[in-house]
Amino acid sequence: MADVAVHTVRFEPVGIEMDVNEGETVLDAAFRQGISVMHGCKEGQCASCKSLLIDGEIELMKYSTFALMESERDTDHILLCRTLAFSDLTIELLNYDEDLLSRSIAVKSFPGTVTAIESLTHDICKLTIELEAPIRFWAGQYVDLEVPGHGVTRAYSMASPPNGGTTLAFIIKQYADGAFSALLSGILKPGDAIVAKGPYGTCFRREGRTGPLILVGGGSGMSPLWSILSDHVASGEQRPIRFFYGARTRADLFLLEEFAGHAAKLPDFRFIPALSHATAEDAWEGETGFIHEVVARTLKQERLQGDMDAYSCGPPPMIDAVLPILQMAGVEPERIYFDKFTPATR
Ligand code: FES
Repeated sequence: MADVAVHTVRFEPVGIEMDVNEGETVLDAAFRQGISVMHGCKEGQCASCKSLLIDGEIELMKYSTFALMESERDTDHILLCRTLAFSDLTIELLNYDEDLLSRSIAVKSFPGTVTAIESLTHDICKLTIELEAPIRFWAGQYVDLEVPGHGVTRAYSMASPPNGGTTLAFIIKQYADGAFSALLSGILKPGDAIVAKGPYGTCFRREGRTGPLILVGGGSGMSPLWSILSDHVASGEQRPIRFFYGARTRADLFLLEEFAGHAAKLPDFRFIPALSHATAEDAWEGETGFIHEVVARTLKQERLQGDMDAYSCGPPPMIDAVLPILQMAGVEPERIYFDKFTPATR
């Protein structure tokens, strides 16, 4: 087999150097070598990895012009997840986070088996898997799950907190036509092989902070937020926490006993579920309306003091509605971390 050409990539202004194999994207090379640069979809659609090519020869694989406009391409902007190197490169990271870089974990594949699939609601289930070797990750990150033989790979955030172990749990929304989630309705069984590749993601718990922590989720966005909350509880850190969760009806709520368990250990914690389509049978006395409205109302009333951090995970329309509300409530944009979940890609 012919040797694969290897080039050197230098990232500025951070001065980090790494290798990239010919045929490998710059982003994949960074993942492989444990260099965590900004990323989101990993497939040329979200613009999170947009950077500036200072020097070198590249080719860009297919990408969306929503992520990289023609005028940007003309001025040497590139998407790291679509960039193939044909010489040594110098790349300026336009968007980077020292915290993210310092907490990089090399991406690897972890073979494992399915151990349990349990229903949490009519369309949300919990998948538990056991890996052959322990995986390191930060609370809030995700892996790509692949079921060998089925040709589907999907990104899912861990619901379990990181503990250096081999067991991972995921809270997954099931779509009747979901390529992966449909496997969870009777096809995938305990004992079946599964492969987790990761960790990925930049929406993970920043540790050692004291200001209020705002968590906002909907649907299976509960998964990373539950990991973040559980990790916070285990850390023993103390900070005011408001956990907002948007659901349609009472039947869409779950983990209520577990929330009560965490609440008992936290001095200043409120779980604030809100129903957007409460029915008479729900006899619901809690918050109603869309979750971004409830976040706006609550943060206005409470006027929490201190530098806030906010994490929001769930369907894209929910995140798009919540982000400006968080900023209006005084959360600095660089302290808002979010992960948009879409059924097909992330
Ligand atoms: S465009 Fe590269 S990670 Fe989304």
